[in-house]
Order: sequence, then C-alpha cells, then structure tokens
Amino acid sequence: MSGRPAAAAEAIALPPLPAPGALQELLARRRSRRSFAAAPLSLAEVGALLWAAQGVRGPEGRRTAPSAGALYPLRLSLLAADVTGLERGLYRYEPHSHQLQPVERGDLRPAARAAALWQESVERAPALIAIAALPEVTAVRYGERALRYVHMEAGHAAQNVYLQAAALGLDAVALGAFRDAQLADVLRLGPGQCALYLMPVGRALP
Ligand SMILES: Cc1cc2nc3c(=O)[nH]c(=O)nc-3n(C[C@H](O)[C@H](O)[C@H](O)COP(=O)(O)O)c2cc1C
Repeated sequence: MSGRPAAAAEAIALPPLPAPGALQELLARRRSRRSFAAAPLSLAEVGALLWAAQGVRGPEGRRTAPSAGALYPLRLSLLAADVTGLERGLYRYEPHSHQLQPVERGDLRPAARAAALWQESVERAPALIAIAALPEVTAVRYGERALRYVHMEAGHAAQNVYLQAAALGLDAVALGAFRDAQLADVLRLGPGQCALYLMPVGRALP
C-alpha cells in the first residue's frame, strides 16, 4: 500500500441524487415513531412486515435479508394485541410456509413493556415484532464471529421492517433497550436464543 494521505486531497462533491425512485422515497420517509393510532392492523399488514424482515423470496429458500453463509439464525415472533382476524397472543413466524404458529394467548404487552424498561411505545402498539437469534446456527460455521453476525443480521431485518412499514403507511420503532432474560421469558424463547430487537408497529397517527 502506498500513496499520499487522503487528507491532503480536495473533497469531491457527489452529484445530486437521481430522480426519486420508490426506495429513495421510503428511505427519506423512514423514521422511528413511538405513538400509534388506536386502530387495528390487518393480517395482511403484519404478514407483509414479517415477510420483509425474514420472508423467503424464491424457490431456493433465500430470504429478504442477507445472512452470513445463508444460515438464517434469526427467529421472528409476533405479539398481536389488535390485529383483525387474529386472537391476542404470541405467535412464531414460519418463513417457509409464511404462516403464524400460535404459542400463547393473551395480551402480552404489559409484560413486554415491563421487560422493555417501561417504554410506552410497547403498550401503545397494536402489534410488536420481536427479532431473536439462535447464534449456534451461525457458530457451526463461523465460531466466535457468530455473535457479531447475528447482531448485523438483526439490523438488516429491522431496517426491512422500517421500510415495509413506510411503504404501507405504517409506523414502527426498533427497541434495543430491554432486560434480556425478562424479554426472553415473555417471548418464550427456547434455550440458546437471545432477543435482539422488539419493534412496536401500528397505524400512523392522523
Ligand atoms: C440499536 C438501536 C437501539 C434502539 N433502541 C431504542 C429503544 O430502546 N427505544 C426507542 O424508543 N428507540 C430506540 N431506537 C431508535 C432510535 O432512538 C432512533 O433510531 C434514533 O433516535 C434516530 O431516529 P430515526 O430512527 O427516526 O432516524 C434504537 C435504535 C437502534 C439502532
């Protein structure tokens, strides 16, 4: 490696952005919102959000978000409180069948809110998407780097939820502040799984 230090060179102005396309508009609109209208989400909307995070996008089984070694260590759950056609409760998202597997009935928001340091956005949301990981899936190939990789992958999935929410006219926020063990308990996570993000989602306030 050789060359002069970059600091000596003049900055290069980048050209203006191209005419806004769909993605550019969504990126510009994306932001965290923590209050939601008191209105239900539809099953199609929560399905679209879950698909954006971790859906299967083709016959070869690859997902909407990138994954180190295509090993897919993320596990998604839905906490439904006000979703039309869905009983209140906890569900697992099954990417291959695009289905929800019921785990537990009831409004889990108060327990989730307590785990998330009493953040109000948790109880205001008609639905929450939880992103957890099973790092051992990735560790089989990548050893100690697995933890780093699952954190990165959760970021990809969460950004997809934000962008899909923006596309559907919904609001979302990614929460990373919570008590790990307490939230894992609320989500009924199995051994070896860790909760990485909790995302309240809902209809935008008028
Ligand atoms: C790793 C991470 C953890 C976060 N945790 C929380 C959280 O616990 N509570 C919250 O209200 N927002 C949380 N946020 C959202 C940030 O506050 C938000 O992204 C930031 O204020 C920038 O605003 P924007 O998303 O609207 O651009 C988190 C964001 C990231 C990336």
